[in-house]
Amino acid sequence: MTMRMKILIAATALAALSACSKPAATPPAATGGPVAHASIQEVMVSVVEPASAIVWKTPDSFDPAKKATQAQIDADWLALRKGAVALSEASNLIVMEGRHAAPPGVKLQNEGLEGNLTTAQIDEKLKTDRTKLLEYAKALQDASLKVLVAIDAKKPDAVLEAGGAVDEACEACHKHFWYPGAPTPP
Ligand code: HEC
Repeated sequence: MTMRMKILIAATALAALSACSKPAATPPAATGGPVAHASIQEVMVSVVEPASAIVWKTPDSFDPAKKATQAQIDADWLALRKGAVALSEASNLIVMEGRHAAPPGVKLQNEGLEGNLTTAQIDEKLKTDRTKLLEYAKALQDASLKVLVAIDAKKPDAVLEAGGAVDEACEACHKHFWYPGAPTPP
C-alpha cells in the first residue's frame, strides 16, 4: 500500500468518525443565518412562476423551420437549464419555516372564489399540515429535476413531458393548500 493510499484511508476513517460524533445541525435561522422573509405568495410570483414560465416555453430556435444558428440553440438550452435549476431549488424556499401565505393586508389571487381558503386559513394549514407541504414541494422538485435531466439530454419532447409533470405538481399543492373546495371542471 502506498503512503498516499494509507493517508487517504486514515483521513476517510477520521471523517467518518467525526461525522458520527457531531451533534445534529442547528437550523440556519437559529444561528443568525437567512430567514424566510417573503410570503409564499411572493415566492410564487417572484421565483416559482417565472422559473416555470421558462421551462414551459419551447424556444423558437428549436423549430427547424426557423433555421436558428447553433449558437442561438445552445444559448436557449442554457436559458432553459437556468429556469429548471431555479425551479428545482424553489421547493426549498417554499418549505422554509415561518413563511406566511401573504404579506399582511395583501389579497390572494382569486380570494373569495368558491372553495378558496382565506389567507388566515392557509396560514393555519401551512402550520398544521406541514407533512403535506413537504410532500407537495418534493413532488415539484422531482418533476423539475426530470426537466433538468431532459434538458441535459437535449430532448425537447422529454422537456415538454416533464413540464406536464411540473404543472400537475403545482396543481396538486394548490388544490390542497389554496382551493380545496373549488368545483372540479367537468
Ligand atoms: C408545495 C405547495 C405549492 C406548490 C408545489 C406550488 N405552489 Fe403556488 N401556491 C401555493 C400556495 C399555498 C398558494 C396560495 C397562497 C398564496 O398565494 O400565498 C400558491 C399561490 C400561487 C399563485 C398565486 C399568488 C397570488 O397572487 O396570490 C401562483 C401564481 C402560483 N402559486 C404559481 C405556482 C406555480 C406556477 C407552481 C408550479 C410550478 C406552483 N405555484 C407550485 C403553494 C404551492
